[in-house]
Amino acid sequence: MSEKLNEVMKVIKERRSTRKYSKKAINEEDLNTIISAGLMAPSAHNNKGWHFTLVSNKELLEKMNSETKEIAKTCGDDLYERWGNKEEFDIFYHAPTVLILSGDDKAYNSYIDCAAATENMLLAAESIGVGTCWIGVIELLFREKTKEYKELLNLPEGYTPLFAMTIGYKEGNSAKPPKLDMSVVQYIR
Ligand SMILES: Cc1cc2nc3c(=O)[nH]c(=O)nc-3n(C[C@H](O)[C@H](O)[C@H](O)COP(=O)(O)O)c2cc1C
Repeated sequence: MSEKLNEVMKVIKERRSTRKYSKKAINEEDLNTIISAGLMAPSAHNNKGWHFTLVSNKELLEKMNSETKEIAKTCGDDLYERWGNKEEFDIFYHAPTVLILSGDDKAYNSYIDCAAATENMLLAAESIGVGTCWIGVIELLFREKTKEYKELLNLPEGYTPLFAMTIGYKEGNSAKPPKLDMSVVQYIR
Protein backbone atom coordinates (compact mmCIF):
# COMPACT_ATOMS: atom_id res chain seq x y z
CA MET A 1 0.00 0.00 0.00
CA SER A 2 1.61 3.27 -1.05
CA GLU A 3 1.31 6.19 1.37
CA LYS A 4 2.81 9.63 1.83
CA LEU A 5 5.17 10.01 4.76
CA ASN A 6 5.38 13.65 5.90
CA GLU A 7 6.25 15.01 9.35
CA VAL A 8 2.74 14.52 10.74
CA MET A 9 2.53 10.94 9.48
CA LYS A 10 5.94 10.18 10.95
CA VAL A 11 4.78 11.38 14.38
CA ILE A 12 1.55 9.39 14.13
CA LYS A 13 3.54 6.26 13.25
CA GLU A 14 6.10 6.77 15.98
CA ARG A 15 3.71 7.56 18.86
CA ARG A 16 3.28 4.66 21.27
CA SER A 17 2.04 4.70 24.84
CA THR A 18 4.88 5.35 27.27
CA ARG A 19 4.81 3.30 30.48
CA LYS A 20 8.28 4.06 31.80
CA TYR A 21 9.28 7.61 32.69
CA SER A 22 12.38 9.38 33.91
CA LYS A 23 11.95 11.28 37.19
CA LYS A 24 12.82 14.57 35.48
CA ALA A 25 10.02 17.14 35.73
CA ILE A 26 8.58 18.24 32.43
CA ASN A 27 9.79 21.69 31.39
CA GLU A 28 7.32 24.52 30.97
CA GLU A 29 7.90 25.07 27.26
CA ASP A 30 7.25 21.39 26.50
CA LEU A 31 4.14 21.45 28.68
CA ASN A 32 2.86 24.62 27.00
CA THR A 33 3.39 23.07 23.58
CA ILE A 34 1.35 20.02 24.56
CA ILE A 35 -1.44 22.03 26.17
CA SER A 36 -1.78 24.40 23.24
CA ALA A 37 -2.22 21.38 20.93
CA GLY A 38 -5.09 20.23 23.17
CA LEU A 39 -6.71 23.65 23.13
CA MET A 40 -6.66 23.63 19.31
CA ALA A 41 -8.56 20.35 18.96
CA PRO A 42 -11.87 20.16 17.12
CA SER A 43 -14.99 20.11 19.32
CA ALA A 44 -18.71 19.55 18.81
CA HIS A 45 -20.51 22.84 18.12
CA ASN A 46 -17.10 24.42 18.77
CA ASN A 47 -18.03 24.17 22.46
CA LYS A 48 -14.46 23.32 23.54
CA GLY A 49 -16.05 21.37 26.36
CA TRP A 50 -12.83 20.60 28.21
CA HIS A 51 -10.90 21.63 31.29
CA PHE A 52 -7.30 20.57 31.94
CA THR A 53 -5.87 20.03 35.42
CA LEU A 54 -2.13 19.40 35.58
CA VAL A 55 -1.22 17.42 38.68
CA SER A 56 2.36 16.93 39.82
CA ASN A 57 1.54 16.76 43.54
CA LYS A 58 2.87 13.35 44.61
CA GLU A 59 0.36 12.88 47.44
CA LEU A 60 -2.63 13.51 45.20
CA LEU A 61 -1.19 11.23 42.49
CA GLU A 62 -0.70 8.44 45.02
CA LYS A 63 -4.20 8.95 46.42
CA MET A 64 -5.72 8.65 42.94
CA ASN A 65 -3.55 5.61 42.19
CA SER A 66 -4.40 3.69 45.35
CA GLU A 67 -8.11 4.56 45.33
CA THR A 68 -8.48 3.62 41.65
CA LYS A 69 -6.74 0.29 42.29
CA GLU A 70 -9.00 -0.44 45.25
CA ILE A 71 -12.11 0.03 43.10
CA ALA A 72 -10.50 -1.89 40.21
CA LYS A 73 -10.07 -5.03 42.37
CA THR A 74 -13.79 -5.83 42.12
CA CYS A 75 -14.84 -3.89 39.01
CA GLY A 76 -15.59 -6.95 36.86
CA ASP A 77 -13.01 -6.22 34.16
CA ASP A 78 -10.23 -8.82 34.03
CA LEU A 79 -7.38 -6.48 33.11
CA TYR A 80 -8.38 -3.78 35.59
CA GLU A 81 -8.82 -6.38 38.37
CA ARG A 82 -5.30 -7.66 37.68
CA TRP A 83 -3.92 -4.10 37.86
CA GLY A 84 -5.83 -3.51 41.12
CA ASN A 85 -4.38 -6.62 42.70
CA LYS A 86 -0.79 -5.96 41.65
CA GLU A 87 0.92 -4.33 44.63
CA GLU A 88 3.64 -2.54 42.68
CA PHE A 89 1.42 -1.37 39.80
CA ASP A 90 1.05 2.39 39.44
CA ILE A 91 -1.81 3.47 37.17
CA PHE A 92 0.29 6.53 36.19
CA TYR A 93 3.53 4.57 35.66
CA HIS A 94 5.29 7.08 38.00
CA ALA A 95 4.98 9.86 35.42
CA PRO A 96 5.96 13.24 36.93
CA THR A 97 2.85 14.99 35.58
CA VAL A 98 -0.68 13.78 35.04
CA LEU A 99 -3.21 15.80 33.08
CA ILE A 100 -6.82 15.28 34.13
CA LEU A 101 -9.42 15.89 31.45
CA SER A 102 -12.75 17.19 32.74
CA GLY A 103 -15.82 17.80 30.63
CA ASP A 104 -18.13 20.80 30.60
CA ASP A 105 -21.54 19.42 31.65
CA LYS A 106 -23.29 21.89 29.35
CA ALA A 107 -21.27 21.18 26.20
CA TYR A 108 -22.88 19.20 23.38
CA ASN A 109 -20.46 16.24 23.75
CA SER A 110 -17.68 17.01 26.17
CA TYR A 111 -16.46 13.40 26.37
CA ILE A 112 -15.60 13.38 22.68
CA ASP A 113 -14.20 16.93 22.86
CA CYS A 114 -11.85 15.76 25.63
CA ALA A 115 -10.88 12.68 23.59
CA ALA A 116 -10.04 14.83 20.55
CA ALA A 117 -7.98 17.17 22.75
CA THR A 118 -6.17 14.18 24.24
CA GLU A 119 -5.20 12.72 20.88
CA ASN A 120 -3.88 16.13 19.76
CA MET A 121 -1.79 16.26 22.93
CA LEU A 122 -0.45 12.70 22.57
CA LEU A 123 0.75 13.55 19.07
CA ALA A 124 2.14 16.98 19.98
CA ALA A 125 4.05 15.38 22.86
CA GLU A 126 5.55 12.73 20.56
CA SER A 127 6.58 15.43 18.08
CA ILE A 128 8.80 17.05 20.77
CA GLY A 129 10.10 13.78 22.24
CA VAL A 130 7.80 13.65 25.28
CA GLY A 131 6.11 10.42 26.36
CA THR A 132 2.43 10.09 27.23
CA CYS A 133 -0.18 7.45 28.00
CA TRP A 134 -3.96 7.75 27.95
CA ILE A 135 -5.26 6.64 31.37
CA GLY A 136 -8.84 5.40 31.11
CA VAL A 137 -8.82 3.18 34.20
CA ILE A 138 -9.16 6.30 36.37
CA GLU A 139 -12.75 6.60 35.13
CA LEU A 140 -13.56 3.98 37.79
CA LEU A 141 -12.52 6.47 40.45
CA PHE A 142 -14.11 9.54 38.89
CA ARG A 143 -17.44 7.71 38.45
CA GLU A 144 -17.51 6.44 42.03
CA LYS A 145 -16.19 9.56 43.79
CA THR A 146 -17.28 12.32 41.42
CA LYS A 147 -18.18 14.92 44.03
CA GLU A 148 -15.03 14.38 46.09
CA TYR A 149 -12.76 14.69 43.06
CA LYS A 150 -14.52 17.77 41.70
CA GLU A 151 -13.45 19.38 44.96
CA LEU A 152 -10.00 17.82 45.24
CA LEU A 153 -9.20 18.90 41.69
CA ASN A 154 -10.63 22.34 42.36
CA LEU A 155 -12.76 22.13 39.22
CA PRO A 156 -14.81 25.12 38.14
CA GLU A 157 -18.58 24.76 38.67
CA GLY A 158 -20.22 22.61 35.98
CA TYR A 159 -17.26 20.38 35.08
CA THR A 160 -16.90 16.63 35.69
CA PRO A 161 -13.57 14.71 35.74
CA LEU A 162 -13.48 12.07 32.99
CA PHE A 163 -10.06 10.52 32.39
CA ALA A 164 -6.34 11.32 32.39
CA MET A 165 -3.08 11.23 30.48
CA THR A 166 0.42 10.87 31.82
CA ILE A 167 3.20 13.20 30.63
CA GLY A 168 6.94 12.79 31.10
CA TYR A 169 10.28 12.10 29.47
CA LYS A 170 10.57 8.55 28.18
CA GLU A 171 12.90 6.02 29.73
CA GLY A 172 13.81 3.26 27.31
CA ASN A 173 12.50 2.69 23.83
CA SER A 174 8.89 2.78 22.78
CA ALA A 175 7.17 -0.35 21.49
CA LYS A 176 7.26 -1.17 17.79
CA PRO A 177 4.59 0.27 15.50
CA PRO A 178 1.54 -1.98 15.23
CA LYS A 179 0.63 -3.96 12.11
CA LEU A 180 -2.23 -2.27 10.31
CA ASP A 181 -5.43 -4.29 10.15
CA MET A 182 -6.84 -3.31 6.78
CA SER A 183 -9.74 -5.77 7.19
CA VAL A 184 -11.69 -3.10 9.10
CA VAL A 185 -11.53 -0.73 6.13
CA GLN A 186 -14.33 -0.91 3.58
CA TYR A 187 -14.86 1.12 0.42
CA ILE A 188 -18.23 1.82 -1.14
CA ARG A 189 -17.61 3.22 -4.62
C1 LIG B 1 -9.82 5.37 25.85
C2 LIG B 1 -8.45 4.80 26.18
C3 LIG B 1 -8.18 4.41 27.47
C4 LIG B 1 -6.91 3.90 27.80
N1 LIG B 1 -6.62 3.58 29.10
C5 LIG B 1 -5.40 3.12 29.42
C6 LIG B 1 -5.07 2.86 30.78
O1 LIG B 1 -5.85 3.05 31.71
N2 LIG B 1 -3.82 2.40 31.05
C7 LIG B 1 -2.90 2.17 30.06
O2 LIG B 1 -1.79 1.74 30.37
N3 LIG B 1 -3.18 2.42 28.76
C8 LIG B 1 -4.40 2.90 28.42
N4 LIG B 1 -4.69 3.21 27.12
C9 LIG B 1 -3.64 3.04 26.09
C10 LIG B 1 -3.91 1.81 25.22
O3 LIG B 1 -3.66 0.64 25.95
C11 LIG B 1 -3.00 1.91 23.98
O4 LIG B 1 -3.29 3.08 23.27
C12 LIG B 1 -3.16 0.71 23.07
O5 LIG B 1 -2.76 -0.48 23.70
C13 LIG B 1 -2.32 0.87 21.77
O6 LIG B 1 -0.97 1.06 22.08
P1 LIG B 1 -0.17 2.37 21.65
O7 LIG B 1 -0.85 3.57 22.31
O8 LIG B 1 1.22 2.17 22.16
O9 LIG B 1 -0.23 2.48 20.15
C14 LIG B 1 -5.93 3.75 26.77
C15 LIG B 1 -6.23 4.15 25.48
C16 LIG B 1 -7.45 4.70 25.18
C17 LIG B 1 -7.71 5.20 23.78
